[in-house]
Amino acid sequence: MDNRLYDVIHRRRDVRAQFTGAPVPDEALHRILSAAHAAPSVGLSQPWDFVLVRDPAVRGAFHEHVQHERAVFAATLDGDAARRFAGIKVDGVLESTLSIVVTYDPGRGGPAVLGRHAIADAGLYSVCLAIQNLWLAATAERLGVGWVSFYREPFLGELLGLPTGIRPVAWLCLGPVSHLETTPDLERHGWRRRRPLRDAVHHDRW
Ligand SMILES: Cc1cc2nc3c(=O)[nH]c(=O)nc-3n(C[C@H](O)[C@H](O)[C@H](O)COP(=O)(O)O)c2cc1C
Repeated sequence: MDNRLYDVIHRRRDVRAQFTGAPVPDEALHRILSAAHAAPSVGLSQPWDFVLVRDPAVRGAFHEHVQHERAVFAATLDGDAARRFAGIKVDGVLESTLSIVVTYDPGRGGPAVLGRHAIADAGLYSVCLAIQNLWLAATAERLGVGWVSFYREPFLGELLGLPTGIRPVAWLCLGPVSHLETTPDLERHGWRRRRPLRDAVHHDRW
């Protein structure tokens, strides 16, 4: 057994506040993207693409949109939840070194994608596996990743000039960090606690 993989899996964290903005070496970025691109995919469709976003103007426009969507969500909360959410940072778009937008092309490998005929979502699952590989590889490189989903797909598609039909699945902030927290932010802020493994495991039937 190789304990280093388990170590990386358990050290991985979603990062918002700990980005330093220091450069990411090109070789590390290449290793991280290669790890993402090595993910399994339905019918070997590899339906992902990676848009590296460094342009401050693009990141600034996205950050403004995220702030708007944060306010939209905040307006659905009241009382205690509203108070707790007010103290939670939901992105590190401006502080991180760069961002990587991971997209999904449902037409890739078509028309007959082996293994997707009964489960259309299998294509999206594949993209999420690439994202997880990227996240773990970045953790192994001692970098942080923060997944930002406070956006509307049409806005991001337009901002990045995505071709029609290509869906943005994740905006990932990436870069060196001061440290990785040992407890998820949402748990530290009292928003939600992790569920014990024993509650998630079922035997033979649900
Ligand atoms: C699909 C997805 C979307 C997420 N979107 C956001 C987000 O918009 N903002 C944010 O701060 N964290 C986001 N997260 C991070 C989660 O809040 C985080 O993974 C969770 O609280 C567990 O913490 P950990 O990743 O540090 O273990 C997202 C995570 C996933 C998997």
